[in-house]
Amino acid sequence: MKPRVFITRQIPERGIRMIEEYYEVEVWGEEREIPREVLLEKVRDADALVTLLSDRIDGEIFDNAPKLKIIAQYAVGYDNIDVEEATKRGIYVTNTPDVLTEATADFAWALLMAVARGLVNADGFVRRGDWKDKGVAWHPLMYLGRDVYGKTIGIVGFGRIGQAIARRAKGFNMRILYNSRTKKPEKERELGAEFRPLDELLRESDFVVLAVPLTKETYHMVNEEKLKLMKETAILVNISRGKVVDTKALVKALKEGWIAGAGLDVFEEEPYYNEELFKLRNVTLAPHIGSATYGARYAMAELVAGNLIAFAKGEIPPTLVNGEVLNVRKPGFGRYDAP
Ligand code: NAP
Ligand code: GLV
Ligand code: GLV
Repeated sequence: MKPRVFITRQIPERGIRMIEEYYEVEVWGEEREIPREVLLEKVRDADALVTLLSDRIDGEIFDNAPKLKIIAQYAVGYDNIDVEEATKRGIYVTNTPDVLTEATADFAWALLMAVARGLVNADGFVRRGDWKDKGVAWHPLMYLGRDVYGKTIGIVGFGRIGQAIARRAKGFNMRILYNSRTKKPEKERELGAEFRPLDELLRESDFVVLAVPLTKETYHMVNEEKLKLMKETAILVNISRGKVVDTKALVKALKEGWIAGAGLDVFEEEPYYNEELFKLRNVTLAPHIGSATYGARYAMAELVAGNLIAFAKGEIPPTLVNGEVLNVRKPGFGRYDAP
């Protein structure tokens, strides 16, 4: 008999094939979000869960899941999971770091460049035939954007993704400022980056990129007061989590010209709609697709499978989030024989 895993959405097939060698697999096959009551029902006899960042995994889920021993999140961020509560109950939590770092850093740059040069507005202008209608082939003052090369980038959250964003900034000959909980002297040397307290980073940067996890400390980290510190010519890029930014304050900042523009991949509620924000032309928006490349999503599926398989074999999963759980329970299902 194999342990049972419930997967809350279709993930790339290669991951499922790997998992099936060790688990009885059930997948929520619909495209829409799994309804809460269905999830509460499905966890009843699950030994393992594969979750997405949109699934809220809390005490109520754990109360309904007496057999649950491991949650393998298909994402690097895991603010949707009550990890402390999981640890208390001896439930392992894993995530998918590293394999999506470069794809997400690429996308932060795509947003940064798109906003700096008004790419989406310009595309619409050509596509709708407005350029042809206007009859002006080239104009010295048409679609002027902001210089990127040689400017100052401020990266808030200097972990895997923040550093990957900095590596790209080196190629643009940028001055690189960063903020994180701890200073990183080795990375400073390697990347030519300088630490700044948050307020100073915001004052000095032409581009501010957010790459922190969502925690109690980072919730609304960028609020009205912080936005007022930024340059009027600066652009904010958020690829972290929507709740890191106070959206109301951001809309005000964009409308009143405290800052020049924003590129947003993440929102306070997802899916998101905000007429006031969407009317603004100095923002470029994306539906949380930072890691959405074939390569990253396939590798994430393999890493989720690798975590589940290691656990089934009684080994420590390679990307365990809550190391303290090892003091509560050994990895493995005990009563099942791993093949
Ligand atoms: P990571 O390696 O853990 O890096 C996080 C960084 O944030 C670390 O440098 C950490 O500082 C810093 N940090 C944490 N709390 C902070 C605070 N209060 N003030 C300042 N800095 C703080 O994580 P990662 O792999 O780079 O991923 C970062 C986040 O990006 C994820 O948690 C996820 O929410 C988001 N993400 C989004 C997408 C997307 O599709 N848009 C894709 C992937 C990830 P220390 O180094 O000092 O601990
Ligand atoms: C995506 O946002 C992730 O955290 O992996
Ligand atoms: C622009 O196309 C230029 O040649 O300067």
